[in-house]
Amino acid sequence: MSDNNSRRRFLVGAAAVAAAPAVAGLVGPTTAAQASSRPAGNGAPARTATTLTSRRRLGRLEVSSIGLGCQTMPGNLYGPVSSRADMIKIIRTAVDQGVTLFDTAESYGPFESERIVGEALRRVRDDVVIASKFGWNIDPDTGQQLPGLNSRPAHIKRAVDGMLQRLRTDHIDLLYQHRVDPQVPIEYVAGAVKDLIKAGKVRHWGLSEPGPQTVRRAHAVHPLTAIQNEYSLMWRGPEQQILPLCEELGIGFVCWAPLAYGFTTGTINPYTRFTDGDFRAFVPRHSQENLTANMPVVQLLSEWAVRKGATPGQLSLAWSQAQKPWIVPIPSATRTSHLLENIGTEEFAFTTAELREFTTALNAIPIRGERLPAFVLALSGVEAPLP
Ligand SMILES: NC(=O)c1ccc[n+]([C@@H]2O[C@H](COP(=O)([O-])OP(=O)(O)OC[C@H]3O[C@@H](n4cnc5c(N)ncnc54)[C@H](OP(=O)(O)O)[C@@H]3O)[C@@H](O)[C@H]2O)c1
Repeated sequence: MSDNNSRRRFLVGAAAVAAAPAVAGLVGPTTAAQASSRPAGNGAPARTATTLTSRRRLGRLEVSSIGLGCQTMPGNLYGPVSSRADMIKIIRTAVDQGVTLFDTAESYGPFESERIVGEALRRVRDDVVIASKFGWNIDPDTGQQLPGLNSRPAHIKRAVDGMLQRLRTDHIDLLYQHRVDPQVPIEYVAGAVKDLIKAGKVRHWGLSEPGPQTVRRAHAVHPLTAIQNEYSLMWRGPEQQILPLCEELGIGFVCWAPLAYGFTTGTINPYTRFTDGDFRAFVPRHSQENLTANMPVVQLLSEWAVRKGATPGQLSLAWSQAQKPWIVPIPSATRTSHLLENIGTEEFAFTTAELREFTTALNAIPIRGERLPAFVLALSGVEAPLP
C-alpha cells in the first residue's frame, strides 16, 4: 500500500457481508433488486475506504474522483428504494466519506431527486458540487413531463429557478443540457446559460450526449466544463470522437452508467428478472440472449478481481478512471454497501501494463445489444441547428 493509502482506515462494510459467488453467471435466478455486492474477487472482504481523498478536475472545477449519481433515488427508474429517508442518509454518508460531486436532474422523478439532494446537502452546501440538468420538456409548475425536449432560453431560465428552490441553494455548480434540442441553436442555449452565470445562479456548464460540432459551437460561446455521456466497459462510443475532443478543448468528462446499470458489478446475469417499472427491462443489451452473450465481460472482470483483490464493480470504475485523469464516474447507489464499495475503488489502480492487458482482452469480446431503447438512443449525438 502506498504512503497515501497507509493512512487510510479500512472497514469491512456491508459490502462484504453478501455472499454471492465471485463469478457471476453461476448464481441462480435473482431479481435486479435482490442482487447485491459481493466479496472481492479473491474471496477477501470487499475493501471499502472510509475516506475518498483523491480529487480530479473537470475543466477548472475540482471534484472527488468518484461522484454519486442520484437518479435512482426517487425509486421510479430501477424499481423501488427502501425509503426517502434512507436516500438522504446515503447522500450524507457519501459526504462523510469524501464524495463531493452529486449528480441530479430536473427530470429525475421529475423533481424528486433534486428535492432529495437539496434536503440531504443543505448543511454542507458550500463543501460540495451539485450538478443538475435541464432540457426535457417538463412543466416548471407541475413537473408534468410533456412530449419532447425544450431548451428554449426562457424555459431554461424558468427551469433553473425551480431547480434552485428544490436544491435549496442560490447556485448550481454544474448545469448540463440533458439532450441537444434539435429545434434550438446551441448558441441560444449557451447564451441563456451565460446569462445565468452572470446572474450568479450557475457556476459551470456542460452538455450530455451531444454531437461533436455542437460541443465546439457551445464551447466557443462559453467554455464547457464537462461532457456527460454514457461510458463503461459495455459502451465505449465516446472513445471515437468525444474523448479526443474533450482532450483537445480541455473539457472534463463525466461517465454516466459507469457500471453499465449494474451489469459490470456481476450482480446481473441471464437469470435476472427486472421488476415491473424497472427501466433496465427495456434496454436491448439486457435481453436474456444478450445478457448471456455478454457474460464474458463479467468473466474477465471476475478473473481480474481475483488477481487484484477487488470487486468487479471496483475494477469497472478503476478502468474508466484509468483512461484519462479528467474522467469522473458517477455510479448511482441506493444501498450504503454499494456506495462504500464504489468509494473503495480509490484503493485500486491499473498499472500501464495491466491496463493494456485488460483492455486487449476486453477488445476481443463483442458486446451485444444496444445500450438504450431506440427512441432514447435517437436523442444522442444530435447536432443542434444553426442560428
Ligand atoms: N446524462 C444522462 O443522460 C444520464 C443518464 C443516465 C444516468 N445518468 C447519471 O448517471 C448516474 C449513474 O447511472 P445509472 O444509475 O444509470 O447506472 P450505474 O451507476 O452504472 O448503475 C447503477 C446500478 O448499479 C447498482 N450498483 C451500484 N454500485 C454497485 C455495487 N458496488 N455492487 C452492485 N451493484 C451496484 C445500483 O444498485 P443500487 O441502487 O441497489 O445501489 C444500480 O442498480 C445516474 O444516477 C445519473 O446521475 C445520466
